[in-house]
Amino acid sequence: MPDYTYVIDGLHGRRIVLGVSGGIAAYKAAELTRAIGRLGADVHVVLTEAGARFVTPMTFHALSGNRAWTGFQDGEMEDGMPHITLGRRTDAILVAPASANFIARLAAGFANDLLSALCLARDCPLLIAPAMNRQMWENPATRRNVERLQADGVTLLGPAVGEQACGETGPGRMLEPEALCEALLAFFTPKLLAGRKVVLTAGPTFEAIDPVRGITNSSSGKMGYALATASARAGAEVVLVSGPVALPAPAGVRRIEVTSALQMRDEVFAEMTGVDVFIAVAAVADYRPAEPAVRKVKKSGAALHLQLVPNPDILAEVAALPEAPFCVGFAAESHDLDAYAEGKRQAKRLPMLVGNLLGDGLGGDENTVVIYDEEGRHPLPRAPKTYLARRIVERIARLLPAK
Ligand code: CTP
Repeated sequence: MPDYTYVIDGLHGRRIVLGVSGGIAAYKAAELTRAIGRLGADVHVVLTEAGARFVTPMTFHALSGNRAWTGFQDGEMEDGMPHITLGRRTDAILVAPASANFIARLAAGFANDLLSALCLARDCPLLIAPAMNRQMWENPATRRNVERLQADGVTLLGPAVGEQACGETGPGRMLEPEALCEALLAFFTPKLLAGRKVVLTAGPTFEAIDPVRGITNSSSGKMGYALATASARAGAEVVLVSGPVALPAPAGVRRIEVTSALQMRDEVFAEMTGVDVFIAVAAVADYRPAEPAVRKVKKSGAALHLQLVPNPDILAEVAALPEAPFCVGFAAESHDLDAYAEGKRQAKRLPMLVGNLLGDGLGGDENTVVIYDEEGRHPLPRAPKTYLARRIVERIARLLPAK
């Protein structure tokens, strides 16, 4: 079961209608119902007749906690008009899977079953996640229908390219539930960083002593990855230069994997054209072994001396560029947070720095942080890193000079 905890603060208070049309990917709609519910949304499922042949309404009722609908007649809705009532006070309708047949009916404006009538009578956004055989997807009729729907303002999610239920490989696979959840979250995020390029560093660095050993630290990369996700959801083009971590690349983010501080610095500078924001979250090793051994160091009874030389300060170098982007630093301190954090912000001439006390958040999913900027000190409540990332992105967007 995928882990959705990293997006947990996402859809609280939202009402989502999930439409399920006929296709083998309908089985994934069951997991999707659960995943959207876990994000805090109130999910109401409407199946087409064909959809209900793949997975029963009872399954969706159990998973969503709300009765699932298939026809106009199959339940008491006080006004007897589920195609109108279900769509009102709803934040979005997501049809997943959207079959070729359903897409054709939607494009033509049919209203001959509850789900298509609901889509026609909606006053909320409509998102569709197509699922079909690759040739059905590539057929000019489907292309035409999809183009028409997009011109009508419908949001297309996917499809993915890959192995299909029919045994063929190509475009037409429904996006996985996790990717659809991420797309929903991004859909509801204000596009505060649209048209901006954000480069981030995250995770630890690993400084080689010999081919198998090195100096590193316990940074998990979670805060940097949460900020990359929040920036992407806010509409930015995002490049994440990451040291070795155990996290998957966030959706909509270009990740460049590096090992050492020197590699991290090279990759950051290679991405500096057109960059608007640089967020340095990585716990970069301040020193590296002067001369890493080419061969494995063998043990002997004698003491071993390692000579360390300082690493470049990537953030300070970027902030000192003649046309420096908006630079955000991070500082983890064991004590005197205000003095050290504000001191680092000023020493590196940063418009913003985020500070936290060691032990408050290292490695975990939550943290307690304070934002320092030209306007002063702004403590945030203890919260999941995903939530903090959103608040930090909002603050960056507010202080970022207009283009
Ligand atoms: N940083 C960097 N390159 C380095 C060292 C740090 O880009 N070689 C960035 C970090 O990503 C972070 C900020 O600088 O945003 C941390 O500032 P710094 O003063 O270097 O913090 P520490 O290394 O923790 O300093 P100290 O050990 O003196 O507390």
